[in-house]
Amino acid sequence: MVAVLEIEGLRKTYRSRRRGERRALDGFDMVVEAGQVHGFLGPNGSGKTTTLRTLLGLIRPNGGRMAILGQEVPANLPAVVGKVGAIVESPQFFPHFSAQDTLSLLADAGNLSQQRVPEVLEVVGLRDRAKERVKTYSLGMKQRLAVASALLKNPQLLILDEPANGLDPGGIREMRDLMRDLSASGMTVLLSSHILGEVQQICDSVTIISLGRRVAAGPVAEVLAQHSSGGLRVRLESSADLPAAAQVLVASGVRVDIQPDHLLVSGVDKPSSVTRMLAGRDLYVSELAPITVDLESVFLELTGTAPVAGQHRQVDQSAEVPA
Ligand SMILES: Nc1ncnc2c1ncn2[C@@H]1O[C@H](COP(=O)(O)OP(=O)(O)O)[C@@H](O)[C@H]1O
Ligand SMILES: [Mg+2]
Repeated sequence: MVAVLEIEGLRKTYRSRRRGERRALDGFDMVVEAGQVHGFLGPNGSGKTTTLRTLLGLIRPNGGRMAILGQEVPANLPAVVGKVGAIVESPQFFPHFSAQDTLSLLADAGNLSQQRVPEVLEVVGLRDRAKERVKTYSLGMKQRLAVASALLKNPQLLILDEPANGLDPGGIREMRDLMRDLSASGMTVLLSSHILGEVQQICDSVTIISLGRRVAAGPVAEVLAQHSSGGLRVRLESSADLPAAAQVLVASGVRVDIQPDHLLVSGVDKPSSVTRMLAGRDLYVSELAPITVDLESVFLELTGTAPVAGQHRQVDQSAEVPA
């Protein structure tokens, strides 16, 4: 597969006289393959916007390298900028302009064909409201207009920073459908979010960032598999047999936790070996299920942002994740 985006060892330290140094990116890595919807996930303040702004040449990094569509950036940014559509930070539009006028103006400014205006209005679902003033738009409609403006140049890579921010659940779903359509048309989409549930269902792959470092990356299923315990839930036809079954399994070197109506088994190579061992002792398995984790648990664990009873987590407070 082709990497549309590559980031290696990116570093950024913000310096201010009053607050001293703040290390926003601390050797961050990311790879996005062509044709994917890639989720860039991390809690508030973990470095997502800094990464995206650096990528677009808006911030100068302190170290590391980046490439977009095979071109090193920022050095070769002019060569690829026409193929990258981005919305980083919510764009401001003239409130008295209609969506159509806004896009028409942007098309002119960008030397793009006016023909794209009705096309992108159609894609983002604003066709019927295109002649109304932006100030009468809902937040969701403004987001659509923002996406439309990024689509004008028909980019190969679309970068959206927190596109679901401030949207209601219906708006989030519409945004997701839109992303899916764009991806189906062959576009690579990178979208950041601090709320995992917003993007989880549409991402082919994810990068999870915490404290300016990548803590997990890959296809969603792989990230889940790497962080699942590999444990099994085992039920028997008769719960009375659980202690006997536990004994058999422990004797074979497997870890077993006895629960009231099932066993939690871990350290098993093949689930079928559990069935075989138990059946050999006339103990019959009625249910054998892998214990699945969801991406949210992985996210909370990796970013150290799982809630702790009785504590109020502060904004920059993430648990350090061992390298
Ligand atoms: N212009 C800036 N000056 C100083 N610190 C900044 C600036 N922009 C961001 N930061 C800090 O860098 C860290 C990462 O911020 P950011 O990239 O905006 O995170 P995210 O987008 O993941 O919420 C935060 O601690 C933030 O306060
Ligand atoms: Mg941000």
